[in-house]
Amino acid sequence: MCGIVGYIGKNEKKEVILNGLKELEYRGYDSAGMAIYDGVELRHFKAVGKLENLSSKMSDFTSAGAGVAIGHTRWATHGKPTEINAHPHLGEYSFVIHNGIIENYKELKTELEKAGVRFVSQTDTEVIVHLFEFYNKSASSPFEAYEKTISRLQGAYATLLITKAAPNVVFFAKNAAPMIIGQSGDEFYFASSDAPLIGLCDSAIYLDDGCYGFADTSGNLKIFDSDKKPFNKAPTALSKDKGYAQKGGYRFFMEKEIYEQSAVASECLMGRISGDEVCLDIDESVLESRDEVVLCACGTSYHAALTASYLLERLAKIRTKVEIASEFRYKSPFLNKNALFVVISQSGETADTLEALKIAKNAGLKSLAICNVDNSSIVRLADAVLLTRAGIEKGVASTKAFATQVLVLWLLALRLAKMRNTLSPSEFSSETEALRGIPAVLNFAPALQERIYRICKHYLHGHGFFFIGRDIFYPLALEGALKLKEISYLHAEGYPSGEMKHGPIALADSGLYTIALLPSTCLYDKAISNAQELAARDAFITAISPEPFELADDYIATSKHSHMMSEFFEMMVVLQLLALEISVRLGNDVDMPRNLAKSVTVE
Ligand code: M6R
Repeated sequence: MCGIVGYIGKNEKKEVILNGLKELEYRGYDSAGMAIYDGVELRHFKAVGKLENLSSKMSDFTSAGAGVAIGHTRWATHGKPTEINAHPHLGEYSFVIHNGIIENYKELKTELEKAGVRFVSQTDTEVIVHLFEFYNKSASSPFEAYEKTISRLQGAYATLLITKAAPNVVFFAKNAAPMIIGQSGDEFYFASSDAPLIGLCDSAIYLDDGCYGFADTSGNLKIFDSDKKPFNKAPTALSKDKGYAQKGGYRFFMEKEIYEQSAVASECLMGRISGDEVCLDIDESVLESRDEVVLCACGTSYHAALTASYLLERLAKIRTKVEIASEFRYKSPFLNKNALFVVISQSGETADTLEALKIAKNAGLKSLAICNVDNSSIVRLADAVLLTRAGIEKGVASTKAFATQVLVLWLLALRLAKMRNTLSPSEFSSETEALRGIPAVLNFAPALQERIYRICKHYLHGHGFFFIGRDIFYPLALEGALKLKEISYLHAEGYPSGEMKHGPIALADSGLYTIALLPSTCLYDKAISNAQELAARDAFITAISPEPFELADDYIATSKHSHMMSEFFEMMVVLQLLALEISVRLGNDVDMPRNLAKSVTVE
């Protein structure tokens, strides 16, 4: 995810910006850049890859003297991670950096191109700087030109702009992407989160959506709200703890990532549903004439694959197989050349999945990677790629990566359904309507977490957990059990509800915790009967359902939904929070559980 830092003052600007960007490194990025006005010249530098590359490109450059500077780390969304696409973007005499997505950039670009403007990058951001220079030709001041520019933008943006037309000024604007401003004497600091400001300012102003304005080297700061009225929000004291700031105020990265799921789901769906159509950002020739899908992954990504197998068969009516990558590698798999081979990996570096992909490619299968990390080994090898756009995930226990994998796989199932003509128009539109609603489903109130924290004290003893569910709620049960195992070190299994009576029910007694997923949209009566069988053997039952279950020892109420995927995503959050809070109560390291690594590059 991109990061923004800006500075106005007399200190060595290059260092202030590099240090600030360093604090945002944890968010992940694939290129970086900065623009600096040092009182004499406006210079810019860009580099692909790590900040060290940018720093070494600038090693001979110093920027003493009062001036302004803006810097950016970019996580590619529109266009590849190249130097041209890295920020800042240049007009003729101005530079801009931006986080977010300008949704109407195509129409703005067309308009500007008709006026003779030449674009060099593939990004949406570049329109901002050209629009500014276009308006600046006729505006009474650069600020008026900036105000006009911002009024034309639709979508999400946190943006800073510097220009030779007003060399001592930083223009800023914010909508649906974070931007804060700190002041210390006559120095100003800008950033997309508070981590770069810690230690430099005691407090900062958190801009509201629609705010814009400017600050300058004479200590002036003017902020306006979306009605163009002065914005007078009082500064908020900044934490002194950088680690806390990186976690956005949450105790753990995993907790922050659970809360981020709504936002990353929006990002994941952006541009991929248009009206009732699903538009995948790939060359669709890989999908054509396929008569089978083989999904291959490990761990949580394997659970996303299992979930997708239900969606692909039900919606696209295509034969689907799911393979655990480490097993697939050595089983001499029978491979059908007309199958689409889909690998799923948040890191893109998992050795088993990468090797499985090589086997499928060597056998002549078309391949598709669903991955969170652009340029990773798996991404580079696959014929086509759908990025999940979850942003960097720090918690070893995967949460938002899983949510976005399932979303992308659902989109894939719908695209194949369209190509194979397996859904009626009304069935298709109820799917796209449900998909659009997922960011809202993932937006939960902290009261849910408090409730889960309270009931978790019941679960610290006993001899194990069974997570049970049917249909797509079976892979979700597997995922709930894996989350709990990973960070609590308690024994947990996921099982299909109907399978308990074939053996595992022998374990049922009052020390066995059963987490029963009882969605109202999917085999409710059947799932209830299975939970009753366990209750009759005195198992401790936690029901997760929109319907109260009279035999439950604990009950976590979910909302009523009309689509089973909405219930799936709401229950997913409950299971993630359950694992988190049990782990917290046990005093474990939530983000770095013992024996586990974020990227498993060994066999
Ligand atoms: O990076 P990948 O998605 O390929 O990783 C696969 C598994 O190692 C991973 O999902 C693991 O199970 C996580 N720790 C789950 O939380």
